[in-house]
Amino acid sequence: MISLETKISDKTFSNCIMNASGVRCMTLEDLSNLSSSAAGTWITKSCTLSPREGNPSPRYVDLKLGSINSMGLPNLGFDFYLDYVLEQHKSGNDAIFFSVAGLTLEDNLQMLTRIQNSDFQGLVELNLSCPNIPGKPQTGYDFERTHEVLNEIFSFYTKPLGVKLPPYFDMVHFEMMSEILNQYPIRFVTCINSVGNALYIEDESVVIKPKGGFGGIGGAYVKPTALANVRMFYKLLRKDITVIGCGGVETGRDVFEHILCGASMVQTGTLLMKEDTGVFSRLITELKEIMNLKGYKTLEDFKGKLIEL
Ligand code: DHB
Repeated sequence: MISLETKISDKTFSNCIMNASGVRCMTLEDLSNLSSSAAGTWITKSCTLSPREGNPSPRYVDLKLGSINSMGLPNLGFDFYLDYVLEQHKSGNDAIFFSVAGLTLEDNLQMLTRIQNSDFQGLVELNLSCPNIPGKPQTGYDFERTHEVLNEIFSFYTKPLGVKLPPYFDMVHFEMMSEILNQYPIRFVTCINSVGNALYIEDESVVIKPKGGFGGIGGAYVKPTALANVRMFYKLLRKDITVIGCGGVETGRDVFEHILCGASMVQTGTLLMKEDTGVFSRLITELKEIMNLKGYKTLEDFKGKLIEL
């Protein structure tokens, strides 16, 4: 028997594949489709204090090698998602993720205070990397600001929390971010968010409307960058901080590679958008086939064990 069981913080999951926040997780219908899928767990759409319509459409386009988006944080607002996770709690499910993406530090503190004071016992993924709000830089690219934000949060927040990071491309940046994260009781990091503010052109035109066509790239384009980020944070973070991989997952082989780099859980965004929740059972089957061929019985048999020459 092959097991894909995995642990993050104090939670155990029957398998290691879930949605990336933002994809098919905004409405109650989306969330109930995820809950009845084969995914090991799921995460809610990044929310803001108040509901948002998001940016004008077209704002998400499938590309041959991935996707480009500038959604602009459309979501039903914090209260909706808090109610949702509290309902899950009441029915005995705390092994889920609640994504929070306040537009300001004050908004984040307000939302986290309410989560702290609620019955929610699940995991919060604090999004430090939304690239699509004009005038709001990605916190994860401002190291000093990230330090300040985490200082404020951990002055009162005691429940399990992790951060969603943007991709980094420089060894010094991996080291700087790890040094900051290692100072806080963070339980996990999720890497990567989309490769932000890229430009895709068809004929003579951009393909999405917001921001002159600039948007975050996901899918096959970003897999090598995602794997590099998973690998570096796996190596540089405290051993009790788990890494969740995200980026470029189209097959069980891609999930396998994320885990080899050190991921304990793997998220899928672009593929889930393209093919809907049936992807989870396919990815599970494909991953198990690879493990079977290699004689691996659990994720621990190969997690982080990428061969270096
Ligand atoms: C959005 C995009 C992101 O990459 C993210 O992390 C949060 C929100 C968006 O545009 O809605």
